[in-house]
Amino acid sequence: MSRKPIIAANWKMNIGPSEASGFIKSFLPLVEDIKGACDIVIVPPFVSIPAASEALNSTASVGLGAQNVSQYNNGAYTGEISTLMLKELFVGYVVLGHSERRQLFGETDEVINAKLKKALADNLKPLFCIGETLEERDGGQLEAVLERQVDKGMDGLTEEEATTTVIAYEPVWAIGTGRTATSEQAQEAHAFVRSVLAKKFGQAVADKIRIQYGGSVKPENTAELMAQPDIDGALVGGASLDPASFAKIVNAAVTR
Ligand code: PGA
Repeated sequence: MSRKPIIAANWKMNIGPSEASGFIKSFLPLVEDIKGACDIVIVPPFVSIPAASEALNSTASVGLGAQNVSQYNNGAYTGEISTLMLKELFVGYVVLGHSERRQLFGETDEVINAKLKKALADNLKPLFCIGETLEERDGGQLEAVLERQVDKGMDGLTEEEATTTVIAYEPVWAIGTGRTATSEQAQEAHAFVRSVLAKKFGQAVADKIRIQYGGSVKPENTAELMAQPDIDGALVGGASLDPASFAKIVNAAVTR
């Protein structure tokens, strides 16, 4: 089963508008040889999206994402951003359910599900994050947590919507800690997630869904992670903040 790799740069609350276009201008020449072998997505903070969008100038090979979106159309929702606003800026992807949104901002599986449905209805591709905490893993809860997050987060999606969704498996204990899951641990979790998807949407759909790994991905560990049969890409935080480092990750992902 061949699934096109997808590598995304989650800048989190880094790289403001004045730095975003410089980043992209340095980055683009470094991935020129990729030529569509891999989907690349840059996910800046909201306010840096206009500068990033302009610098990308509809570069076909590099997509633009947002880090969150409202589940509502418009109206009295102070501080929120709608799908249509993002689409005006040529945003094609949206990160949803990131563990930082779940843990620090109280997003529940139900809210994430509503956002996923809204994004899909308005043609934004979700990068839907799931992952267990260290306590959950140590307490033998790994599979139960992943199954719940997939089951509730993707509840009510059609087969087509499920296929469009990219899942990012990010063990919370590996995010920003320098502690990457071993490629065996990651593969095991990815294979389990795919089995949950198969139960929910059927094997054919599950085989098409791309599952990224996230959590301290670096140029040095990308190739080994990507060599695993169920790892189809990476969601990169810290190592995506430097154009050369992120370009190395993209290049390592396509030479698997
Ligand atoms: P990290 O973050 O690469 O800095 O661990 C990954 C993420 O949270 O998406």
